[in-house]
Amino acid sequence: MQPLKIAVLVSGRGSNLQTLIDNIEKTEINGKIEIVVSNKKDAYALERAKNHGIEGVYIGKGNYPENDKRNDKLIEVLKAKKIDLIVLAGYMSILDRKIIELFRNRIINIHPSLIPSFCGKGFYGSKVHKAVLDYGVKLSGATVHFVDEGTDTGPVILQKAVEVDFDDTVDTLAAKVLKIEHELLALAVKLFCEDRLEVVGRKVKIKSSSDIS
Ligand code: GAR
Repeated sequence: MQPLKIAVLVSGRGSNLQTLIDNIEKTEINGKIEIVVSNKKDAYALERAKNHGIEGVYIGKGNYPENDKRNDKLIEVLKAKKIDLIVLAGYMSILDRKIIELFRNRIINIHPSLIPSFCGKGFYGSKVHKAVLDYGVKLSGATVHFVDEGTDTGPVILQKAVEVDFDDTVDTLAAKVLKIEHELLALAVKLFCEDRLEVVGRKVKIKSSSDIS
């Protein structure tokens, strides 16, 4: 099977992008990152792409102030690269409906909590961990899911929990969750690239490798 063509959309540090790059370089994932798109001009993720010879592009409010033009540019890039899979790896912007329709069940997002808790509008990055600590829950975690028209509402692919300790701070909790984010995102992308994810209503079936022809 040909490696799938992947676009990774980012906004910042890019540690999840790095995990994908590393797993692809180790041939754990049968995919190729064709492009990294950032909506922030100075995102460190763009540096990471460059360091690995991957094309990076900035498409944000700075160079495309009008929403329609910005979305059209993103679609143009994704089409030009014949992208099979879009990965949102810390992408802090809501994707336009047109893109979701064009890439139905072919967009994966990583979220730093156990969805449906601590997700949706306003829950991103460290805000998620702060809300978790403020509430006092004993478990948090990470979720990888397909993207639909809602915010963090699409079918769940993988989840894993971490314990929240009494003395945890936003930083210590974020670090624990990030570790499992990397694990889950790499696994989800690997499974997608092996055609082992099947969306059945709201559920995602993970097919065993022997089920694949
Ligand atoms: C990650 O923790 C990711 O789950 C989160 O942003 C961080 C990006 O880190 N995404 C969201 O909150 C989306 N709702 P990274 O740039 O090092 O991959």
